[in-house]
Amino acid sequence: MRRTRAVLIVGGSGFVGSYLAYALRDAYKVYITYCKNQITIPGVTSYPFNVIERDWLKRLAYSVQPDFVIYAAGSNNVDYVEGSQTMQDNIHNRGAAAALSNTDLLSPRFILLSNNYVFDGNRGNYHENDTLLPQNSLGKFKVSAENFLKGHSLNYLIVRSCPVYGRGNGQAVSFLDVLRKNLALGRQIKIKNDELHNFAPIEGLVETVITAIETGVKNRAIHYGGLTKCTHIEFAKQFATRFGFDPSLIMADEPGKANKERKLLDFSLNSTASLQQLKLNAFLLEQGFDLLEKKLVPGLGPAKVA
Ligand SMILES: NC(=O)c1ccc[n+]([C@@H]2O[C@H](COP(=O)([O-])OP(=O)(O)OC[C@H]3O[C@@H](n4cnc5c(N)ncnc54)[C@H](OP(=O)(O)O)[C@@H]3O)[C@@H](O)[C@H]2O)c1
Repeated sequence: MRRTRAVLIVGGSGFVGSYLAYALRDAYKVYITYCKNQITIPGVTSYPFNVIERDWLKRLAYSVQPDFVIYAAGSNNVDYVEGSQTMQDNIHNRGAAAALSNTDLLSPRFILLSNNYVFDGNRGNYHENDTLLPQNSLGKFKVSAENFLKGHSLNYLIVRSCPVYGRGNGQAVSFLDVLRKNLALGRQIKIKNDELHNFAPIEGLVETVITAIETGVKNRAIHYGGLTKCTHIEFAKQFATRFGFDPSLIMADEPGKANKERKLLDFSLNSTASLQQLKLNAFLLEQGFDLLEKKLVPGLGPAKVA
C-alpha cells in the first residue's frame, strides 16, 4: 500500500504505542519516539525523545511533518504515578501541552491517550460528557492535558480508555506479562483489589484509535472499554482459570498509594455511544481472552510479529 500520510507516536516504544505502530505501519509512514527503551519495528522510524527536551520535539515534528500526532507517553500505573508526581506531571500533562504547541503550525490532528482516572470512581459507568473529577495524580494530569487540548486545538481527539491487556513488546512489560510469568513459575503474586474497571483487549483500543483517525472524528472525547467489569484480582483469577494456571497463587494486595480513602472505586467507562458511532463492538472478558489465546499460542509469536 502507498504510504503518504505520516503519524508521529510520542511514546511509541511503550505498550500501547508499539501496538499502534505495528497496526499503522502498512498504511502510514510511522515515526515513534522512545525515551529509555529503544525498540525496533520494521518499517517504522524511531527517535530518542525525553519530555524535558521540548525543542527537540519541534525539530523532529518539522522534519517528519506528521498528519497525526498520537501522544502515548507515560505510565498508566496509577500507584507508580502517585509516587513520582513531578516527573509524571511533566510527561502526562506538560509534555502533552508542549507536543501540541510544538506541532500546531503543522496542523496535525492531535490524539491524546487519556484514561478513566479522569472520573472520581464513586459510581462507574461514566459517559463521555460526565463531569471530570479526578481523585488521584494520574487523573489530575490527564484532565489538565485534556483541558489544554480543548482550549488550544481545533483538531484534536481525546481517547479515554479503561486499562487494556495484551502481551508486551519485549521492552514494555505489561500487567499481563508479569501475571503470566509469575503463574507460569508457580509463584504467588499480589494483585490490586481496590478498583473496578471494564478491562478490554489492546487490539480493540488500537482499532478504536485507527477508526477514529480514518473516519475523521474530532474535537471530542471518546471512550473505549469492555463489557465485563471486575477488579484486577478478579481479572487475574479469570485469566488463570482460562489459561490453565493455578488461581490460588493470586493474593489480594493492600489498596495502592493513589487510593487515599482505601475504599473500592469504580472507574468503569460507558463506551456504547463512541463504539456505536465508530461501528465497532465492545468485548466481553471471554471474547478478549479468545483473542489473547491466539497471541499466546507458541508459534504465533508476540504482538511485535503479529
Ligand atoms: N496501558 C493502558 O491500559 C492504558 C489505558 C488507558 C490509557 N493509557 C495511556 O496510554 C499511554 C501509554 O501507556 P502504556 O501502558 O503504553 O505505558 P508504557 O508502556 O509505560 O509506555 C510509556 C511510553 O512513554 C515513554 N516515556 C516515559 N518517560 C518518558 C519521558 N520522560 N519522555 C518521553 N517519553 C517517555 C516510554 O518510553 P521508554 O519506554 O522508551 O522509556 C514509553 O514509550 C499513557 O499515557 C497511558 O496513560 C494506557
